[in-house]
Amino acid sequence: MIKIDNIVHKYTVWDDENTKNEKVVLDGISLDIPSSTFMAILGPNGSGKSTLAKHLNVLLLPDEGTVWIDGINTADVDKLWDIRSQVGMVFQNPDNQIIGTSVEEDVAFGPENKNMESSKIRTLVESCLKRVGLWQKRKESPTRLSGGQKQRLGTADALAGVPKCIVMDEPTAMLDPEARKEVIRLIHDLNKNEGITIVLITHHTDEVADADQIVLMKEGHIIGKGTPMEIFSNKELLRAAKMDIPPRVELGDKLREAGIPVPESILTEEKMKSEILRLYNETKGKGEATC
Ligand SMILES: Nc1ncnc2c1ncn2[C@@H]1O[C@H](COP(=O)(O)OP(=O)(O)OP(=O)(O)O)[C@@H](O)[C@H]1O
Ligand SMILES: [Mg+2]
Repeated sequence: MIKIDNIVHKYTVWDDENTKNEKVVLDGISLDIPSSTFMAILGPNGSGKSTLAKHLNVLLLPDEGTVWIDGINTADVDKLWDIRSQVGMVFQNPDNQIIGTSVEEDVAFGPENKNMESSKIRTLVESCLKRVGLWQKRKESPTRLSGGQKQRLGTADALAGVPKCIVMDEPTAMLDPEARKEVIRLIHDLNKNEGITIVLITHHTDEVADADQIVLMKEGHIIGKGTPMEIFSNKELLRAAKMDIPPRVELGDKLREAGIPVPESILTEEKMKSEILRLYNETKGKGEATC
């Protein structure tokens, strides 16, 4: 789906009125993102995650190297709109991406701009709003939505482009824990049930336990790539990327240290709960404990 081949990105920085410098922010990044993958990108502030994300729907072009989206080079100006429609973006601040005065108008905005027939727009808006669970709210003003609902609306806006891939740049950063779960659940559904490729940028390690691949970035480089189990078991790498060890991984480590044999492969809350319960029941030989 996406192939990033050795890209370099430089920003021009003005030290004062007369002196400008080039700052290398992505320094030889290569990455393959196969179709239907759930890929998570983590890394400290300023490591280049958002800059990389902007290359995926041609908000930026590389200074060196190439980004291919479904075989199309993003530098091919004639194909700009083809690429943009393949890759939807959802950003951190939901208020910045909402334009419509009602929820349904907001989703209709993109298709209307492409001169789509109005009957098709209606069908598309209905489908997008149903998929994100906002159909009942279609007549409401977006300003009345909660933070989680606003991010779901942002996702519906992205879906209205009929994308194969959605890139989400810290979509949960401004949300409370419940709203975060709501958005993460939606991301999982779109990936697992509809096969939409997801690139999720986040600082929350607990949101990426189900990712197919995690990429760790630091200072414009990729310093690690692997499954959640590979990444989270590599404490040195996590420290280098200034990442927290996810609470579930830490709990697993503590339980193993205490002689309770929880498998290292358990990274999600649900699986951890049922495994602890299973071990408890096995030890007690009762089978009657519940969470
Ligand atoms: N338009 C710009 N002009 C100059 N420098 C920029 C610009 N945008 C970003 N930068 C710099 O590029 C580097 C990478 O920024 P980027 O926003 O890609 O990082 P990030 O990993 O997304 O960080 P965060 O976790 O804070 O969102 C930072 O040092 C940032 O200050
Ligand atoms: Mg960023």
